[in-house]
Amino acid sequence: MTGSDPPSLAGTAPEGGGGVVHSDGAAGSNGVANLSGGESRSHLTSRITNADAIPIGDADPGADHGYHGELAAILIGEDDLKAKIAVLAKAVAADHDMDTPPLLVCVLKGAVMFVTDFARALPIPSELEFMAVTSYGSATSSSGVVRILKDLDRDITGRRVVIVEDIIDSGLTLSWLLRNLATRGPASVDVVALLRKPEAIKVDVDVRYVGFDIPTDFVVGYGLDYGERYRDLPFVGLLGEHMYR
Ligand code: PRP
Repeated sequence: MTGSDPPSLAGTAPEGGGGVVHSDGAAGSNGVANLSGGESRSHLTSRITNADAIPIGDADPGADHGYHGELAAILIGEDDLKAKIAVLAKAVAADHDMDTPPLLVCVLKGAVMFVTDFARALPIPSELEFMAVTSYGSATSSSGVVRILKDLDRDITGRRVVIVEDIIDSGLTLSWLLRNLATRGPASVDVVALLRKPEAIKVDVDVRYVGFDIPTDFVVGYGLDYGERYRDLPFVGLLGEHMYR
């Protein structure tokens, strides 16, 4: 639930997190080089600010899903999500070819909505794998020490892996995951993340494809939860403060 911490708690990860990993192929402070083939595609990333949030008025879109009066605003609507995912999919496809289909590694549970839409938007074949990890530490911040709850079902030796993440908050989960997958002999490991909170980042994890940079506010929907709720919303919204204060 790290990706949806309340604003007051966001980015409060304790010390001792993962090492620095660079996607340009340079070794990080932990001595492990990311296997990414190139630079981050920063032109793909849209910057979203609080000014972009559309306050919930009389028509409450959360009510359609049983969350009447629980959301404060829509931060990224369905159409914008769809358009961005199409752009990300095109960019990832351009860096791959039909003969070496990307192996998409979805990090459960938050990335489920994203990976299904992303895979369907890809104009090339892809294969799907799932991983579930949990971070040691408090319920509200990750420690960077990660335990695997569900591992990949197959060997990734020689494969071009694309980790699919819903959100990068402190970056600790991803930093650990990159180091873990790098030990398994893949041809490359890249990351596509729908959302990133630049102000919450604690470790330097360069991510090749990022959809939106967002504020540190408490976001839910499109896979992101608070207490396992709201994942089913088709848009990214801001949770009303009265729901967690
Ligand atoms: C979220 C998100 C990322 C991680 C990001 O997962 O899906 O995996 O937190 O946080 P970090 O950058 O601070 O490490 P979470 O642990 O909340 O599990 P979930 O996806 O099952 O909700």
